[in-house]
Amino acid sequence: MLSGKTVLLGVTGGIACYKAAELASALVKQHCKVRVLMTKNATEFIAPLTFESLTGNPVAVDTFDRDRPWEIEHIALADQADLVLIAPATANVLAKLAHGLADDMLTTTVLACDCPKLAAPAMNTRMYENAVTQDNLDALRRYGWEIIEPVSGRLACGATGKGKLPDPERLLEAVLHALTHRKDMTGLKVLVTAGPTREALDPVRYLTNLSTGRMGYAVARAAAARGADVTLVTGPTELPRPPYMAEVVEVTSARQMFEAVTARSAEMDLIVKAAAVADYRPATVAENKIKKTRSGTDLSLPLERTDDILAWLGAHKRDGQVLCGFSMETADLLEHSREKLEKKRVDLIAANNLREEGAGFGTSTNLLTFLTADAVIPLPLMSKTEAAHQLLDELLRLMGM
Ligand SMILES: Cc1cc2nc3c(=O)[nH]c(=O)nc-3n(C[C@H](O)[C@H](O)[C@H](O)COP(=O)(O)O)c2cc1C
Repeated sequence: MLSGKTVLLGVTGGIACYKAAELASALVKQHCKVRVLMTKNATEFIAPLTFESLTGNPVAVDTFDRDRPWEIEHIALADQADLVLIAPATANVLAKLAHGLADDMLTTTVLACDCPKLAAPAMNTRMYENAVTQDNLDALRRYGWEIIEPVSGRLACGATGKGKLPDPERLLEAVLHALTHRKDMTGLKVLVTAGPTREALDPVRYLTNLSTGRMGYAVARAAAARGADVTLVTGPTELPRPPYMAEVVEVTSARQMFEAVTARSAEMDLIVKAAAVADYRPATVAENKIKKTRSGTDLSLPLERTDDILAWLGAHKRDGQVLCGFSMETADLLEHSREKLEKKRVDLIAANNLREEGAGFGTSTNLLTFLTADAVIPLPLMSKTEAAHQLLDELLRLMGM
């Protein structure tokens, strides 16, 4: 996703330096060129050789290195950069950057960069919460920096509190968000549903399905990366809460999902319903745990229909609003999907067959066919992220954008 891009990864002297190695590796896997700049103090925590081996590029530490006298390296690096990410960023380097100090290779190069800049502070909680650090972070934000908030947890100093460097996945997400896409959805309000629902049977049991939420989360992330204002309504999933959402609404049952979606739908330009909502729920929820029958006979559960959210949205669709549903079938995929498209006034159905390899629940790939009023568009097997972008491309076409 980052092919052709150059990321300058600034590494400064904190315990979390080891996470920067994983991040460098993750960036390389996204096919971008990674140039690592380290402060002298960072080399006390992790050797430049680690980053050189992971990125295949030399690490810059010393501004006055005479190995490459024919170019002024800090300017050459700044010219190449599509993005700067300082992770971890010490209190010291944040203070320098906030005040334009340029007394080593990292700070001098960054001062010469005019690309997007991100910093991920990591330090002891009291250092982080100190008013002077917070003032420096505010100054950086004013100068256009994106600050990736540290997370709470047990810190290397033994204290528990805010100040930990987020996981490399979160940092990678920030890079992808800043770099990958043209912002062609800026100003659009998009609602995405994701994940399964749980329909309670008694206080300890529920009916559900195998949805993991990955496809819906991929659509929500892709829309946010393209500048949309995204509301994610999610059933219970194991996935980390995606950043850059305007709102995340966590629901459990089909009824709650119906309420969350219908309360917000009128203001949306685009609604993508990727959630696997239960079609039926137990007609009654037992107050106490249902026990085995004494005689050992079988148990039948009366089920009732849940609200059909897609049909409701189709019936209440306002002018110019575009509605997208997903269909997951095990047989007669296209016939069932076409029926859904027409009956529910949906503009696009993304159909996937559970029986096809690489498609459906729990995989990181999907094999989708898009159905619209006048076209059937089969896509090859691709990652859910790529599939999400293709879906958004098609939906923007339907919106005349
Ligand atoms: C073991 C150890 C861990 C440290 N961890 C951090 C840290 O997580 N964050 C931070 O801001 N400073 C930390 N420091 C202090 C910095 O290393 C120190 O402020 C240094 O001057 C930073 O240099 P640099 O910003 O040029 O890399 C740590 C120091 C030591 C000795």
